[in-house]
Amino acid sequence: MTDTVSGHFITLEGGEGTGKSTLAKAIARKLEEHGLRVVLTREPGGTPLAEAARHLLLHPPEGQVWSPLSEALLVNAARRDHLEKLIRPALARGEWVICDRFADSTRVYQSIEGGVEQVTLLSIERDVLGDTVPSITLVLDVSLDVARQRRAARAGALDTFERRPDAFHEAVRAAFLDIARSEPERCRLIDASVTPDLVLSAAWDQIQHLLPERRLATS
Ligand SMILES: Nc1ncnc2c1ncn2[C@@H]1O[C@H](COP(=O)(O)OP(=O)(O)OP(=O)(O)O)[C@@H](O)[C@H]1O
Ligand SMILES: [Mg+2]
Repeated sequence: MTDTVSGHFITLEGGEGTGKSTLAKAIARKLEEHGLRVVLTREPGGTPLAEAARHLLLHPPEGQVWSPLSEALLVNAARRDHLEKLIRPALARGEWVICDRFADSTRVYQSIEGGVEQVTLLSIERDVLGDTVPSITLVLDVSLDVARQRRAARAGALDTFERRPDAFHEAVRAAFLDIARSEPERCRLIDASVTPDLVLSAAWDQIQHLLPERRLATS
C-alpha cells in the first residue's frame, strides 16, 4: 500500500528492556515531523476495556492466577477491542498506528509461560486479527546482559514478567528471533544494542519506503 491516504500499522516486539517503548515514541515523533497523523498505542491495552484487561493480567487479585489458556483469551479479548475501537478506525482515517507489542508477544509469552499450543494461539490470532495484519513488525534484539542493565536502570518497581529468571528471558529472545526468521516479509530484526538514535535510524531504514512518495525523506 503506497497511496497517499493509506495509513500503516507498525508493531514493535521484543523482550523486556529491549527499547520498544523508547523506539515507538521516536518513530511516532519522526512520522509526525513528516506531516503524518500517528496513533501511538500499546498492548495489552490501548482502549479503556483493554487497559482494564491489562490491569487484570498484570495485577490479578491477591492469590489468584490465570490459567495459561484463560490468559491467552483475555489478551485476545483486549486485542479485539483495541482493533475494533482504535486501530482499525485510525487506519481507515489514513493514520499510522504504532503499537508497542502486539500479537507476536502473545505467541511468545503464552506459549513459553503456559505452554498453550502454537496451533491454538495461531488459530485465535487469525480470527481476532482478520485482515488487520501489521505492515511491518520491528523485532528488537539485544543480549540478555544489556536488557537486564536497561531494566535495572529504569525507574519503577519490577513487574511480574521482569522478575523471571535468565532462562525465561533467553527463551523469550529465542522465540522472537524464530518469529522474525520465519516471517521475513512482515518482520525486520533490529539490533537494539546501539544508541537510541542508531536504533531509530535502523528502524527508519525499514519503514521509510511506506511513506507517501512526496514525503519520502532520509533525515
Ligand atoms: N538504545 C538504547 N540504548 C540505551 N538505553 C536505552 C535504549 N533504548 C532504551 N533504553 C533505556 O532502557 C530502558 C528500557 O527501555 P524501554 O522502556 O524502551 O524498553 P521496553 O522494551 O519498552 O521494555 P518493556 O518491555 O519492559 O516495556 C529505559 O530506561 C530506556 O531509557
Ligand atoms: Mg515498554
